[in-house]
Amino acid sequence: MLIKAGIVGASGYAGEALIDILLKHAHVRITGLYAKIDKPLAISELFPRLRGKIDLICKEIDIKEIINNCDLVFLALPHTVSMGVVPALLAAKKPVIDLSADYRLKDSRVYRNFYQVDHKDKINLKKSVYGLPELYRENISKANFIANPGCYPTAAILGLAPLVATEAVDLDSIIIDAKSGSTGAGRKLSQDLLFSEIEGDFRAYKVNSHQHMPEINQELGFLAQDEVRVSFVPHLLPLARGILETIYVKKSKKSKIKKGGLTDFYKKFYKLEPFVRVRDAGDYPNLKAVVGTNFCDIGIQEDGDKAVIISVIDNLMKGASGQAVQNMNILCKFEERTGLL
Ligand SMILES: NC(=O)c1ccc[n+]([C@@H]2O[C@H](COP(=O)([O-])OP(=O)(O)OC[C@H]3O[C@@H](n4cnc5c(N)ncnc54)[C@H](OP(=O)(O)O)[C@@H]3O)[C@@H](O)[C@H]2O)c1
Repeated sequence: MLIKAGIVGASGYAGEALIDILLKHAHVRITGLYAKIDKPLAISELFPRLRGKIDLICKEIDIKEIINNCDLVFLALPHTVSMGVVPALLAAKKPVIDLSADYRLKDSRVYRNFYQVDHKDKINLKKSVYGLPELYRENISKANFIANPGCYPTAAILGLAPLVATEAVDLDSIIIDAKSGSTGAGRKLSQDLLFSEIEGDFRAYKVNSHQHMPEINQELGFLAQDEVRVSFVPHLLPLARGILETIYVKKSKKSKIKKGGLTDFYKKFYKLEPFVRVRDAGDYPNLKAVVGTNFCDIGIQEDGDKAVIISVIDNLMKGASGQAVQNMNILCKFEERTGLL
């Protein structure tokens, strides 16, 4: 089976990564590329390295054309822009995988607080399935509308899920020290992200106020069936791609995991997962082990009633476009790793 896929937001970092993955996908043909651009432009002019690989024009969004041209649509648009496009696509019964944050937070008041705009599409917000396959594979396989997780939340939730889902951690104790490369902020111009500003520098930003914090709290809260409020400190690394999170936790008194057994416990938890690799005890993952791949690598260190978890991903792969394709594979019943290995 061959499906016709459209990418809206094709000129951005996540859109570009989607093009790369889908060009190698055995069951997909890219049939539409859209962005905000003023006049249609060959995608190979925008990205010269694509010359000879794809012969498509990137155009302004045209909903009717997208509906006619595509069986499935990836939205790699900024938040607030996505929710202007989703209703028409879903009304036309097109499966949509939205990489923006518009449909991730189930409580629209929290969305308002962290994104400073009112949610305009509360009806479809109720229908979105959070696209983290390791937790929601069954729901994704039956869904038509996926809210693809954020990059920081993907690394944090995968790093914490085994503990949070089994009451093995003190929910008040979680501290996430997160570091990301600059592509995490998108391609749009920003003085803070100029090479000469970030090169040779390392800084914290949006301490305990980053928009990904409520997403992490929401998903860990669903797992724990209890309120979760993490401490979340993002940092900007002076490099382009990759996220490394160092997560500090206190084990709970209810934990049934035997002392020194955390690594084995994580290995069992993720045994069947094609894109989570748990390192042996004492072996900690680094960015170069995952950049360019869809893997999340996890390493664990135990110290009495405390533990440190290191969780590492490529923000544009498992943190965005790789995960979006993994979701498409599940939704379309393709082998889950297709195009991703
Ligand atoms: N970057 C990451 O690591 C990452 C990870 C997870 C999720 N995400 C999410 O994925 C989405 C895309 O991220 P990105 O990093 O690829 O952003 P980006 O590099 O800034 O790209 C945004 C894309 O959206 C298009 N666009 C912007 N405003 C538009 C409008 N009003 N109408 C139509 N098209 C518009 C842009 O077109 P022009 O180029 O023509 O302006 C561009 O193609 C965002 O919601 C982001 O939060 C990103």
